Amino acid sequence: MPNAGSSYPPSALPPADPILATDLAGLALRTPVLLAAGTAGTLDEMQNAVDLARVGGIVTKSITPAPREGNATWRLWPVEGGMLNAIGLANVGLDAFLRDYAPRIASVPAAVVGSISGFSVDDFVQVAAAFGTISAMPAVELNVSCPNVKHGTEFGSSPDLLAELVREVRAVLPRTRLFVKLSPIAMGPVKLADIARAAVEPANSSPNGPNQRPGADALCIANTMSAMAIDVRTRRPVLANTTGGLSGPAIHPIAVKLVFDVYRALARDTKTPIIGLGGVLHWRHAAEFILAGASAVEIGTGLFVDPRSPVKVAKGLASWVRSQGAASIKDLVGAVAA
Ligand SMILES: Cc1cc2nc3c(=O)[nH]c(=O)nc-3n(C[C@H](O)[C@H](O)[C@H](O)COP(=O)(O)O)c2cc1C
Repeated sequence: MPNAGSSYPPSALPPADPILATDLAGLALRTPVLLAAGTAGTLDEMQNAVDLARVGGIVTKSITPAPREGNATWRLWPVEGGMLNAIGLANVGLDAFLRDYAPRIASVPAAVVGSISGFSVDDFVQVAAAFGTISAMPAVELNVSCPNVKHGTEFGSSPDLLAELVREVRAVLPRTRLFVKLSPIAMGPVKLADIARAAVEPANSSPNGPNQRPGADALCIANTMSAMAIDVRTRRPVLANTTGGLSGPAIHPIAVKLVFDVYRALARDTKTPIIGLGGVLHWRHAAEFILAGASAVEIGTGLFVDPRSPVKVAKGLASWVRSQGAASIKDLVGAVAA
């Protein structure tokens, strides 16, 4: 089991509705609902708006080796069915994260997943090696799918590049679970299942421990989709970056299909948990992801609509699981009748 000696979970975790208890590659979660990277501050800034003791986990803002200011404004734009963002990976950088945020992680009453981004294998490895030393951080998530920076989706669009990245990162993470966040857009003839396989089974990678997998422990599907809005009066793109990533309900059915595809093609047989994300506003959206094959969900844009949505979604999921006559939400993973 990775990170067996981790200080997570904190002893003070309140009991959850056991029907929602789940796990991601051995990481126990009280509910399958997590806060998505970049939509909830750097770490626990949402704590005044939502009781973090009632969510399953928090994914940090994606951290790069150096601090980044991100793209110029405008970089957020509401559209029908969601929003566009072109934040451009604005973040405090690794040193500030380790100094100002890492010491607080052990007291966050939910699983903290550290999101990592970068522009080279070395960037990812540098942040991963540092995150691997944080015992209160039981998992990291590689963001190889940011459409809002140059080369942001490169690793997520090539099975070879992704396999190399996963091998190198895995080598510096002997105890921490490794999640890989895939892009909804696979390039050219490459299917998302091919990219997912490269993350889960990177060739020539040897596990660091007896219970460690050679590649990713879990897959996050998916990120935003590259998109654009135009001010027809000025004839200019509304975002300073010209394009941005579309999130929210508009991408939800696409993400459900991608989860379904990867679950059937790979994850079911390899027992690789999937975290579904894209447009979860209500429990029904989350339930669709579970039925398609996800073990958990992350909420991003939904937090902008209602910061308490993770708690409401979890409550709705619990009622739904009972109404389906199931003893645990785990029994409904991949249970779509198709
Ligand atoms: C403002 C904003 C910032 C984001 N920043 C990140 C980020 O730093 N890292 C990352 O992996 N995803 C980032 N995302 C993508 C979300 O984590 C999520 O994958 C996406 O928005 C789809 O989920 P949703 O429809 O629930 O928002 C960001 C999304 C938004 C809207």
